[in-house]
Amino acid sequence: MQIEVESLSEDMTMNIAEKYAKSITSPTVISLVGDLGAGKTTFAKGFARGLSIKDLVTSPTFTIMNDYKSGRMNLYHFDMYRLTSKEEALELGFGEYFDLRTLDGVCLVEWAENVKGLLPALFVEVTLTKIDENKRKIAFEVKGWVK
Ligand SMILES: Nc1ncnc2c1ncn2[C@@H]1O[C@H](COP(=O)(O)OP(=O)(O)OP(=O)(O)O)[C@@H](O)[C@H]1O
Ligand SMILES: [Mg+2]
Repeated sequence: MQIEVESLSEDMTMNIAEKYAKSITSPTVISLVGDLGAGKTTFAKGFARGLSIKDLVTSPTFTIMNDYKSGRMNLYHFDMYRLTSKEEALELGFGEYFDLRTLDGVCLVEWAENVKGLLPALFVEVTLTKIDENKRKIAFEVKGWVK
């Protein structure tokens, strides 16, 4: 099942993400899909607000992961843009975040397509599509695999 909403501004995307975060339970992995500038990090900022995280949320482009532990649950925000494989992510010690038995909180993952196979058997995919300058389509879908 896919749920689609339309956002007409940066603020609206943050509000949608904020509302969604309020419904989330731990552990959950959420993949944020979308082109450069689609609004993935903007979504993460609103999501953090929904978990009552007061820290400034910035893009983890260089650190690959930023963690926020002051909210209703832990938030781990990843940007896999600079990685090229699941193995690379595992070498960096990120495996425990993508195993639902050890994850304590919620992962938001930008560019998960660069680390194929890392995500757990069940995750949520949020796809942001740029329609025009300020308009985005935001689609929510449960995804995963079975062996
Ligand atoms: N409806 C909207 N929702 C989200 N962002 C919007 C919207 N309209 C305009 N924008 C603008 O689009 C940009 C989105 O940037 P953001 O950093 O969130 O993208 P991103 O998907 O994380 O990109 P990257 O792949 O580079 O990390 C911001 O400059 C924001 O102001
Ligand atoms: Mg980003």
